[in-house]
Amino acid sequence: MKRMILRGGRVIDPASNTDATLDVLIADGAIAEIGSSIDAADATEIDVSGLVVAPGLVDIHVHLREPGREDEETIASGTHAAVHGGVTTVAAMPNTEPAIDDPSWVEYVRARGREATVHPIAAITMGREGKTLTGMAELEAAGAVAFSDDGCSVLSANVMRRALEYASMVGRPVIAHCEDPALVGHGVMHEGLASTRAGLRPIPAAAEEVMVARDIILAADTGARLHIAHVSTAGSVELVRRAKADGVPVTCETCPHYFSLTDDDVRSYDTSLRVNPPLRTSADVVAIMEGLADGTIDAIASDHAPHSLEEKQVEFDAAPPGMIGLETLLPVTLTHLVHSGAMTLPAALGLLTSGPARALDIPGGTLEVGVQADIVVFDPNTEWTVGADWFRSKSRNSPFVGRTLTGRVRMTISRGRIVFEEESHDEGCSGGGCGSGNAERDELAVNV
Ligand code: DOR
Repeated sequence: MKRMILRGGRVIDPASNTDATLDVLIADGAIAEIGSSIDAADATEIDVSGLVVAPGLVDIHVHLREPGREDEETIASGTHAAVHGGVTTVAAMPNTEPAIDDPSWVEYVRARGREATVHPIAAITMGREGKTLTGMAELEAAGAVAFSDDGCSVLSANVMRRALEYASMVGRPVIAHCEDPALVGHGVMHEGLASTRAGLRPIPAAAEEVMVARDIILAADTGARLHIAHVSTAGSVELVRRAKADGVPVTCETCPHYFSLTDDDVRSYDTSLRVNPPLRTSADVVAIMEGLADGTIDAIASDHAPHSLEEKQVEFDAAPPGMIGLETLLPVTLTHLVHSGAMTLPAALGLLTSGPARALDIPGGTLEVGVQADIVVFDPNTEWTVGADWFRSKSRNSPFVGRTLTGRVRMTISRGRIVFEEESHDEGCSGGGCGSGNAERDELAVNV
């Protein structure tokens, strides 16, 4: 494989506290050297001055829909979308049809990750029915990095307690979807003034919080690692904060929509805004941002949940919950966390790279010399408006269509190869690294 050098970018690697103008040399698919004015005469030069060079993003909450709903997404289209968003590692949720509850399906999902690395998450219970535990040892041996019945909570506290015990025996975390179905009822949006105004059936914050509290108690009881998916309320943030202070082995994630949108937005009745857990109030958004800033929340994950146009082009309460998010993960984070002044760029990048990798104990999320060269190059300051045709995902259910965001991915490198490069764009190019490829550069690119 030819050597390549990314010259003169702002290299930010939160894992090693690096933030400086440096060169990055890539050889044999790995990071070979990081330093100033690296002499690499034989390497293909890529001028990235004016751009940020960071570890490829690690998205630990992605629905790839294969097997079963290939009309909405496939592993190939989902990973194609991932690298368009600068994401080089994804953890794929098992709420497929059939569910990923068998080692052969774990192997199937893992083997199909090409442009990006795919880590399968296996189900906690057979068929995600909440009754019989899956064979966690076999699933882990096949490559499962965690266990989750995401999409549903495990209703029985007894089954959840056993799941935590078995998962800890194989050294992997349980990822909890925290929503009590009895409290959710037929609700479709957050309970409050906005739901009254919209005339839509409400879901109280307590629906999430009682399950967060229960699962924290079970993690404390078993000593097993618990990761809480898509935290959305101020109460949940506080529960996790206190649990961490008490030494409970709990980590958690939130998603960009929980710090960039509120229940007030639902008044548009845009079905892309229907999501579980639902969008919360501006007070919850503030609490989520505080949780991100003080380390209570370990990671930002997209909860990329593709749904077909036919399914989403219905009344708000008839639409399935979920929004796509792989491709807007970075620009929404930059716009709402960094450009808003809530957080520094390195701190926000830590929540998209080393934070999620640590939470699930998976490789990636760093630019350490010797590791697989997974890299995102982006312009943090370009303003652009999201167009419906811009996405590579098979689905289009994004609430960010038509919104203006700041920050744009220019290039993604996965396992040492260029898997995405913006060929031309309207916003102008602040620095090199985004022109059309020359012959040498084409050699480094993967044809997809
Ligand atoms: O809104 C959601 N959609 N939340 C989930 O937990 C599951 C996801 C999906 O799979 O569509």
